[in-house]
Amino acid sequence: MTDDSDMPMKVIIDTDPGQDDAVALLLALASEKLEILGITAVAGNVPLELTEKNVRIICELAGKLDVRVFAGAKSPMKKTLVTAENVHGKTGLDGPDLPEPVMSLQPQHAVDFIVETVLNEPAGDVTLCTLGPLTNIGLALQQAPQIADRIQQIVMMGGGFFEGGNITPAAEFNIFVDPDAASDVFQSGIPIVMMPLDVTHKLLTTKKRLKRIKKLKTPVAKAVVEMLEFFERYDEGKYGTDGGPLHDPTVIAWLLQPELFSGRYCNVEIEKDSSLTCGMTVVDWWQVTDRSHNALVIRDVNGDGFFDLLQEHLARL
Ligand code: RIB
Ligand code: CA
Repeated sequence: MTDDSDMPMKVIIDTDPGQDDAVALLLALASEKLEILGITAVAGNVPLELTEKNVRIICELAGKLDVRVFAGAKSPMKKTLVTAENVHGKTGLDGPDLPEPVMSLQPQHAVDFIVETVLNEPAGDVTLCTLGPLTNIGLALQQAPQIADRIQQIVMMGGGFFEGGNITPAAEFNIFVDPDAASDVFQSGIPIVMMPLDVTHKLLTTKKRLKRIKKLKTPVAKAVVEMLEFFERYDEGKYGTDGGPLHDPTVIAWLLQPELFSGRYCNVEIEKDSSLTCGMTVVDWWQVTDRSHNALVIRDVNGDGFFDLLQEHLARL
């Protein structure tokens, strides 16, 4: 009898590459612990036609041309799309010079793929890993509310509380882009693990860490360093730090080595209506309300352990 813990975890990764998304995808693609059922692209850092292309570019960089890639929402559920070329560059993957993808995009819409997969896989088997705005998940819940009881957990990068916001003083980008989808997800009852800026800002791509990755002397390592050297320049200028925060790989690292992280079950609600604080994740960290604890909010991480995990996996590609 195989112990379930030895079976690969079935995941769908929803993403808006983005250099940090790319590193998260490479970490996932290098792991034998994950069965990637599909990668779904969403508009976010750059428009959808670029995010879906970037997913395919990264899969090919990793040599994983058999992964199924789907395109999802071109715009948020209600708001007008806000993108972040100022951070990620015009292509969303500025930094390295990577070839145009040859692998094809799947014809099925990402939202239909998510719904169909969650309904067809055994209940409780599928984990959703979200690295961008939650639009595809919000639309899937709207289309088929019954999937909420069948999803094992959502591990998501988004939000911020003690650290504030990064696109407004109050809001983090992924939540700000689509607060309506985020609100639906946090009210869905699906178990959520939230990786906010409070933890990602403790994972800086310092020169020492990039130098270590560079020593791998592989095409993947070279591309990762070039991506991160481009990506970090914006946050280094903003925060005055050595390196920038590495956000999205925390989602995959949680699945592979959760003991690297610590946090607390809290209530999290999303501000949707205020022009001043729209997209804020209101985290009841000090439990001052009796609102339900709908998310495990992660606040601390073993930074060196995280980069050891990343190094070991990048070395496999
Ligand atoms: O705020 C950081 C998040 O927004 C990351 O997911 C980054 O890729 C951008 O999507
Ligand atoms: Ca992202």
